[in-house]
Amino acid sequence: MMVRHSKVFIRNRIELDIVDSTNKYALDLDKEGQLVIARAQRAGRGRKGRPWYSPEGNNIYMTVTLGKSDPKYPLIAGVSLRQTLAMLMQDRDVLIKWPNDILLEGKKVAGILCESRGKITAIGMGVNVNQDVWPDELKDKATSLALISGVQYNIGQLIDTIVESLARWISIYIRDGFAPVRRYFLQHAVAIGKSAFTEDGTPCTILDLTMEGHLVLNIQGKVVTLSSGEIFMASQTA
Ligand code: BTN
Repeated sequence: MMVRHSKVFIRNRIELDIVDSTNKYALDLDKEGQLVIARAQRAGRGRKGRPWYSPEGNNIYMTVTLGKSDPKYPLIAGVSLRQTLAMLMQDRDVLIKWPNDILLEGKKVAGILCESRGKITAIGMGVNVNQDVWPDELKDKATSLALISGVQYNIGQLIDTIVESLARWISIYIRDGFAPVRRYFLQHAVAIGKSAFTEDGTPCTILDLTMEGHLVLNIQGKVVTLSSGEIFMASQTA
């Protein structure tokens, strides 16, 4: 019998027209097993205090809450989202940029923000689905599923698939540990073995991902592990 993993994790589904941030809303509920979805966000949050562009209707803004915090959640979420989007995009290039940006043909199609408060962790996912216009500052960096494939997607169905994939990967992690997540990440990550830049612009080569989920870099001959932050590809400016 096919197990629906999401049934194990999701107890309550909340659909909103507009909210400040699905992550904030979900954390304020202070309960595990909540799935919060909005059609638009007034103050969508990105990583590193950045805003997340959240216009109405065309995209996915969703948060799932879990009952503990775990430094591996951001990577598990990245791997699960990459797998779902790659299935839809078939022969297109869908890659994970550490820790969990999803790039489609080299541009950002989805982002993940994990935030914890007390025992609750909010896994927030933003996916550009049917969006075809962006403000000037994003238009060279962002893309959407529809823009690349020419197909319009059903947002509700896609949310269900994303939640099921997230729940499945969490189950894999609980059962088998981090090794399968690490293996999948290394198979589908941007630039393993290639040149990149650290946040302060220092050239580096990306070598590996540790079992703690840290990125291993060679920075000018020195092997360094990065536990948080960001790396930039040679062709990327931000
Ligand atoms: C990033 O790449 O910087 C992370 C972006 C995460 C955006 C999502 S949209 C749903 C959830 N609610 C938020 O306020 N942020 C996340």
